[in-house]
Amino acid sequence: MTFEKNILCIGAGYVGGPTMAMIAHKCPQYKVTVVDINPDRINAWKSEDLPIYEPGLDEVVTAARERNLFFSTDIEKGIKESDIIFVSVNTPTKTFGEGAGMASDLQYWEKTARQILDNAESSKIIVEKSTLPVRTARAMERILTSRNNHIRFDVVANPEFLAEGTAIRDLENPDRILIGSRETDSGREARNEIVDIYRNWVPEEKIITSNVWSSELSKLVANAFLAQRISSINSISALCEKTQADVAEVSKAVGMDNRIGNKFLNASVGFGGSCFKKDILNLVYLCRHYGLEEVSNYWESVVRINDYQKQRFVLTILEAMFNTLAGKRICLFGFAFKADTGDTRESPAIFITKKLLDEKAVVNITDPKALENAEADLAGHNGNVSFVKDPYEAATGCDAIAVVTEWDIYRNLDYEKIFNSMRKPAFIFDGRNILDYKYLYNIGFNVYPIGKPKLTHFTKTN
Ligand SMILES: NC(=O)c1ccc[n+]([C@@H]2O[C@H](COP(=O)([O-])OP(=O)(O)OC[C@H]3O[C@@H](n4cnc5c(N)ncnc54)[C@H](O)[C@@H]3O)[C@@H](O)[C@H]2O)c1
Repeated sequence: MTFEKNILCIGAGYVGGPTMAMIAHKCPQYKVTVVDINPDRINAWKSEDLPIYEPGLDEVVTAARERNLFFSTDIEKGIKESDIIFVSVNTPTKTFGEGAGMASDLQYWEKTARQILDNAESSKIIVEKSTLPVRTARAMERILTSRNNHIRFDVVANPEFLAEGTAIRDLENPDRILIGSRETDSGREARNEIVDIYRNWVPEEKIITSNVWSSELSKLVANAFLAQRISSINSISALCEKTQADVAEVSKAVGMDNRIGNKFLNASVGFGGSCFKKDILNLVYLCRHYGLEEVSNYWESVVRINDYQKQRFVLTILEAMFNTLAGKRICLFGFAFKADTGDTRESPAIFITKKLLDEKAVVNITDPKALENAEADLAGHNGNVSFVKDPYEAATGCDAIAVVTEWDIYRNLDYEKIFNSMRKPAFIFDGRNILDYKYLYNIGFNVYPIGKPKLTHFTKTN
């Protein structure tokens, strides 16, 4: 079978796998190959047990795999055969040298650029899918043109806005597709080629184009704005707890203002995930680099409030439980950084568990999809921690439950049965504000939501 285009994606992670599966699913006329240096990941993509959990992903992958969607570790062959290369490798925060803890670590990105240069035998369009500091496309171009041969490379920026947990829905029906390019003839030509791919299923008005720098920067700014809303409402949750206001009532009243809107206004234990913190810190670093100290301080405060919120949650647990957690058993409901994913990168659960273990608590962790990652995250940390699939079993004998991830299953458990299996007094700390507090209180729990008055059975005299 001959295909209209050969598309390659380098990096078979949370972004590369699902995005390419969607392109292959929607465009049977293209051949889509996804490559990675990690053979275990590639084998998992070829198997029935995909390396990541996303609702709806199995169906999309199975429909296209071996028809026009292929997974491989042969990166060199992939480069040779491709017309268009999406680069979706990881760009974590740098842990060493200049910019450590702030800037993006671009080593994986740069290796990819060199690999493309070494193996390309024909002209190609290179698509930045990873989230990158603004002006990275220039570095990519400089590497790719360093040999001065006759092969032409056009670099376009097409950042990915999917959210984990709803990736398939977001890819199938995106709010927008953004494609940035150089304003030259070949830049515009390359941009149109990428627009043509998305036109197969995305309405024209949702495909927007821009210059390459705006496109790179828009992704960082989108994540910074989303995280800022979470930190804004979380900062207010702290004030609510001091004033008997209810943060859910405040969110509702504020969110009904059309100019503000009601999304992303739920108070919680704080944001996690591989992107928000990394992308904001990257923005902070860039602003500082350009001498914009006030701007960088402003955005840095979003991360500071998030750290504060996680600390506050642990302090609430400690203070509520009579200022000692030593030997007490605490059950964490959820470890993933959000519902409907097994991803635990930067999950607040990691910080919370480590703090609880430092207080010498015994921690039971339950999660429908993230236990394997949780074990890896806590490997090497001293303390008494266990991983239990069944939430009822996990809560048995515990002094407290802390809800860390908003999985639907935790809304509808038999809390009477759970209460009866726990040590008394029994506590629930709802880090996601998803439970029915009055009901839990009536069962006998002492209930501590975020940004709402607590409900306890302790009176001033007992
Ligand atoms: N995870 C998200 O929700 C999300 C959303 C939007 C954008 N992004 C961005 O997309 C990029 C990828 O994120 P991710 O979550 O998919 O990361 P990931 O760590 O899940 O996947 C990256 C993959 O790239 C592979 N890789 C690294 N160097 C390679 C090389 N030289 N050759 C071949 N493969 C290589 C790694 O083995 C890994 O499997 C990041 O820049 C991230 O910021 C992520």
